[in-house]
Amino acid sequence: MTFLKTEALTCRFGGLVAVDSLDYSLNEGELTSIIGPNGAGKSTLFKVLMGSIYPTSGKIIFVEKDITKTPPHERLNMGIAKTHQITQIFPKLPVLENMGIAAQYRLKKGHKWFFLDKWDDEETIKKSENILSQIDLYDRKNMIAGSLPQGDKKRLEIGMAIATDPKLLLMDEPTAGSSPAETQVTVELIKQLSNTLTMVIVEHKLDVVMDLAKRITVMHRGKIIADGKPEEIRNNNKVREIYLGDTS
Ligand SMILES: Nc1ncnc2c1ncn2[C@@H]1O[C@H](COP(=O)(O)OP(=O)(O)OP(=O)(O)O)[C@@H](O)[C@H]1O
Ligand SMILES: [Mg+2]
Repeated sequence: MTFLKTEALTCRFGGLVAVDSLDYSLNEGELTSIIGPNGAGKSTLFKVLMGSIYPTSGKIIFVEKDITKTPPHERLNMGIAKTHQITQIFPKLPVLENMGIAAQYRLKKGHKWFFLDKWDDEETIKKSENILSQIDLYDRKNMIAGSLPQGDKKRLEIGMAIATDPKLLLMDEPTAGSSPAETQVTVELIKQLSNTLTMVIVEHKLDVVMDLAKRITVMHRGKIIADGKPEEIRNNNKVREIYLGDTS
């Protein structure tokens, strides 16, 4: 069964081809990573997969369905969730309320997006608190989200994505701006989540990627230039040249 597949997926911004005729596929249960230098098109690919940008041409198939023109809230209902390179939480609201807003989206089917209305019923609070424990933020549930350290904000956003019960979780730089200690907490969380979720991680920290991913795809100028096991990618000359700037 096809879990996720793109066919000749292309996204142009004027004359710039950010994603260039990309054929990418993913099996259910995989924990994979996409790496590549700044501007390679990684975030644009994620946005096109989530539906916040529609492609210029090409196709996206998710669980056998063509979702190329499916709007983002329907993709969320189908089980695709994403965390963003620049964290998207509700900074003025308490941590628990952030989780509640995300959790009630799934519990009350039919909502088109994260509604800022009632989230404080018993079922929503219970679900939110369970996820807060899982992401190690239960003790900070009453803090204003915007005042959390960066690593905690990133984990809160991961928690909010989990609350929508996804089948596929796309994470755009989940450890960006996090300290080494915070990064380690997030890495452990991702490992734990990978037991039940299919995940794609865009990440610049290569030690994190090598530790987590079973397969790595390397993008450069909108195209895939390599795809393989971590050790294959580490030893790939083209990758070393283009991605690491190693010309030796
Ligand atoms: N909305 C937009 N309008 C015009 N150009 C854009 C837009 N979004 C991205 N781009 C351009 O598309 C290219 C790919 O950008 P993208 O953000 O996908 O790269 P990236 O691989 O995520 O890079 P980084 O590692 O720095 O996050 C870049 O040249 C970027 O400037
Ligand atoms: Mg990016």
